[in-house]
Amino acid sequence: MHTSIPATLAVEGQTRVVHRGRSLIYFGGCDYLRLSVHPAVTAAAGDATARGLGVAASRLTTGNDPSLVTCERELARFFQAEACVLTATGYMANLALGQALAGRFTHVLIDERAHVSLRDAAAMMGATVREFRHVDADGLEKVFLELPSGAKAVVMTDGMFPLDGVVPPLAEYRSRLGPEVEWWIDDCHAAGTLGQRGRGSIEYHGGLGKGVYQIITLSKALGSFGGAVLADRQTIRELWRKSRSFAGSSPPPLPLVAAARQSLRVLAAEPERIKRLQENGLWVKRRLHEAGILDVVSPGPMFLVTPKSASERHRVRRRLLASGIYPSFIHYPGTAEGGAWRFAISSEHRPVELALLVQALKG
Ligand SMILES: Cc1ncc(COP(=O)(O)O)c(C=O)c1O
Repeated sequence: MHTSIPATLAVEGQTRVVHRGRSLIYFGGCDYLRLSVHPAVTAAAGDATARGLGVAASRLTTGNDPSLVTCERELARFFQAEACVLTATGYMANLALGQALAGRFTHVLIDERAHVSLRDAAAMMGATVREFRHVDADGLEKVFLELPSGAKAVVMTDGMFPLDGVVPPLAEYRSRLGPEVEWWIDDCHAAGTLGQRGRGSIEYHGGLGKGVYQIITLSKALGSFGGAVLADRQTIRELWRKSRSFAGSSPPPLPLVAAARQSLRVLAAEPERIKRLQENGLWVKRRLHEAGILDVVSPGPMFLVTPKSASERHRVRRRLLASGIYPSFIHYPGTAEGGAWRFAISSEHRPVELALLVQALKG
């Protein structure tokens, strides 16, 4: 799958990277709102650094710093969940929830292109795992109708798919399967990017009711580092009690928790940043759709372009570099065998930078 170790890149300001000594416009990564370089966010991390880097202990022993609890309360309020628990990463958030929910369900129904951390979590739950066709309500319903009577099912899916920004029809899923089924939404890419206030899938779909577990990361649109599970109080209590990965690891570093808390304040104070991200993404995607380069205009700020041949790949690479754009070609689970271009638009790209990308891709 991986042909080589990728080249090094150093972030330079809000929309550029330095690659092989050259400053280039950057349309990669997942720092969609560029909060990792927001002055208030970096200042919050700096202030907290002066008080110490981490707790050097599991939360279950002596590592339960009050700022972790405050951050959890703020995340729960922001995402409108009953309760929250922080984990070292978003990947670990899925694993920790998987261990907490082990034994609760007889069946897991999982989108065939779900993130690897969801798959790993599914494997820990002691349930029968069934895949359904990618973002397909008919496919999900078909798999559901095949379940034996008395089955207790949870559906696992990304709330926004990381490579192409596709959003599954969660409200439609829910209405097809009824209220008994529960929902495990990996919102690592939707948190901060979907919905008017950046609350992710649940806001975007107008609320999903009860029985929803939402996984987020602090390491993408929130510009910091760490992960979190948002759920009902009882589930979060069980996670504290039952999750081995949570018990046996340290929480995220405190300066990064402080940074994430500041990012939440920025999101609340600057909703126009989220609007700009959504508008920028749609502007680029609509142009590329009109040019026949994209089949669909998905809601997320990222998209994939798969070259049809090695020569096309080289041509596009040359055009991107000639336009001063970093050629973000990736080999990653979910891309075609030879890899693909993945571009991510940010709230901070200027119209001239967006136009350059469109022009370079159109050729
Ligand atoms: C859909 C999805 N879930 C979970 C993760 C894991 O998040 P983190 O980087 O915080 O471990 C990622 C990140 O790559 C992701 O794309």
